[in-house]
Amino acid sequence: MAQNNSFRTRDQLPAVPAPVLQALADAGAPFDLAAAVPEPQDAPALCWGILGAGGIASTFATDVPAFSSGRIVAVGSRDRARAQAFIDAHPDAGKGQPVHAHGSYEALVDDPDVDAVYVATPHNFHCEQALLALTAGKPVLVEKSFARNAAEARRVFDAARAAGLFAMEAMWTRFLPGQVLARALAGSGALGELRYVRAEHFQSLEHVQRLVRLDLAGGALLDLGVYSVSFVHSLLGVPSALTAVGRLSSGGVDLDETIAMEYPGAVAVAASSMAAASDTGAEVVGTRGRLVVQKRFYRPTPLQIVVGEGPGVPRYEWDASLPGGFQFQAAEVARCLAAGRTESETMPWSETLAVLETMDEVRGRLGVIYPGE
Ligand SMILES: NC(=O)c1ccc[n+]([C@@H]2O[C@H](COP(=O)([O-])OP(=O)(O)OC[C@H]3O[C@@H](n4cnc5c(N)ncnc54)[C@H](OP(=O)(O)O)[C@@H]3O)[C@@H](O)[C@H]2O)c1
Repeated sequence: MAQNNSFRTRDQLPAVPAPVLQALADAGAPFDLAAAVPEPQDAPALCWGILGAGGIASTFATDVPAFSSGRIVAVGSRDRARAQAFIDAHPDAGKGQPVHAHGSYEALVDDPDVDAVYVATPHNFHCEQALLALTAGKPVLVEKSFARNAAEARRVFDAARAAGLFAMEAMWTRFLPGQVLARALAGSGALGELRYVRAEHFQSLEHVQRLVRLDLAGGALLDLGVYSVSFVHSLLGVPSALTAVGRLSSGGVDLDETIAMEYPGAVAVAASSMAAASDTGAEVVGTRGRLVVQKRFYRPTPLQIVVGEGPGVPRYEWDASLPGGFQFQAAEVARCLAAGRTESETMPWSETLAVLETMDEVRGRLGVIYPGE
């Protein structure tokens, strides 16, 4: 597919099937895709600084300039040569403007051309590096998991509140059109009363150093399980009770976990593993319909939707696949900053904290303790 700097991703989506729209309207929640998912190219232009020139930063440096109004203006690494190599490897990141290479994170956050900092390092560094950016007066978008635990996240949000600065977890999945529709269906009652939600995220990642090291807050939960837990929270909220089983590596990180969560009238299962791959599916089951994501629920992907009960009720597919994915969260940051907001309504501080509290409890049950906790 041809892509240029004005490529409009949201406009690539097919229309939501009419019977699904009708079910939403009948539930008193008419759905307008254009209003629910603003086109990322129409967001105010934002100049990003990337903190940490690693794996996921590469996706950000590709998606944001290609599919949103934003661009990368600076990259900070502990090693300036690594920052420059990263910039050289992403020639379109600056949209034709020079991108500054910094040899320290301090220099990055102090760069006056940087409007907002994207923290893209291992989980154990997120808290101190988010605080570094906030102290320099910069809003922050922090990779998931936002911090190692809820206490660290609270420190960051307290600092953001005190400084009047924006902070958000880079839970990009929540901003994808398919997830927006899933929340509309679940929250409106168009699927009836929710009885069951499941989400599973299995990837074979035992070869990845960052994930096997306890000091880097590796393990399946903070890397993969956070998507499953966050998906359940986005639909059902905070569980009234939970239980978890899982296995630890010899180094003490969680290799896998299955979490059963209890809600008034519903149950949910959030599963993750770094020791095997799965289809990474998800399902939302209500008394009058359901939503099935067969593969890669955390990415732009097709959804299957059943509205109505009984045999013979048709299953509609809405193909919410599209190029990139990170442009939607980046555009949200740009809109929030332009509106003078310190948090996103779609990924508010309370949600990041609630998900981390759930994960803290899961780790407590499995016996995963990071150094210094
Ligand atoms: N949204 C997604 O789809 C997605 C996918 C994968 C990962 N992530 C998240 O993104 C974050 C980073 O993951 P990643 O896979 O990109 O990590 P990574 O490539 O292993 O590391 C990212 C950067 O962090 C710094 N770093 C790495 N190891 C370090 C160490 N031992 N000591 C000090 N600094 C170190 C390095 O920055 P410099 O050398 O440049 O200073 C490195 O380039 C995690 O929070 C992860 O959960 C998100």
